[in-house]
Amino acid sequence: MKDLCCLNGRIQPLEEARIDPLDRGFLFGDALYDAVRVVEGTILHLDSHLARLQGGLERIDIDVPVGLASNCRQLVAASRLETGYLYLQVSRGVAPRSHEPPGDITPTILILAVAHSFAAPASRAMRAISRQDDRWRHCDLKTTSLLGAVMGKIEMRDAGVDEVLFVGDQGQVREGGSSNIFVRHGDVLETHPADGRILEGITRGILLELAEQIGLPCRETPPLLSERQEWQEAFLCGTLTGVQPLVELDDEPVANGVVGAWTKQLAEALEKRNRNDS
Ligand code: PDD
Repeated sequence: MKDLCCLNGRIQPLEEARIDPLDRGFLFGDALYDAVRVVEGTILHLDSHLARLQGGLERIDIDVPVGLASNCRQLVAASRLETGYLYLQVSRGVAPRSHEPPGDITPTILILAVAHSFAAPASRAMRAISRQDDRWRHCDLKTTSLLGAVMGKIEMRDAGVDEVLFVGDQGQVREGGSSNIFVRHGDVLETHPADGRILEGITRGILLELAEQIGLPCRETPPLLSERQEWQEAFLCGTLTGVQPLVELDDEPVANGVVGAWTKQLAEALEKRNRNDS
């Protein structure tokens, strides 16, 4: 693979790409991003990722760039990325530093091609810690301002586990630092509603569809930490994560540390869907 990126529509060696220090993405985190899986040179669910990115950009009044999909495809071809992901970032652009953005500003568009090998479906037993969710109220915007997540990830790293789960005041399990979560409880899959407290994951959305097709009942309701002894299984999901079982939370096993049947079923269904889409 060649280390290339696409900056403002121009494919170039990553080491030569330069971003202006006055870029509002750098100074203010005034930017959104997305991450899209690439398998055997095929970009998975690109339309859904671009729709989320574009919807977010419209909400924060950044001009939606044209040609993103073709830039993505050109970069995969030019870099010969086989398996990994594309990182797309759109910032408001370059302007003299002022909180208030100018009206006429051209967005900065960066796409990185990143080689990455993904764990097989339901193969990685994940351990997590829970932490009070002190992020902001717009977690549905995939902003590059990720300090809340980064602080959680530092605690995760120091605890020697694989994910941090953000939890509301009433013990509502919201999502991971970079993943969504589903819990099987009373033979219903529970996952936090997409109400601005979580990122509405593309993988989460596909899994809700697949669960319905398979006939696994789902409810968009927050799993509760207070009920964790009753969880029959739990799994994390995301573009980079796929579907992986959560086997331990805060040093205690989840569902006796056993990988659940619904987790395996959905992990395989997702894998199949990804293969069919590619
Ligand atoms: N993150 N929740 C959060 C906070 C996330 O950062 C992510 C993914 C998800 C899963 O969303 P999706 O299924 O659309 O990937 C949920 C990406 C992978 C990242 O930050 O790199």
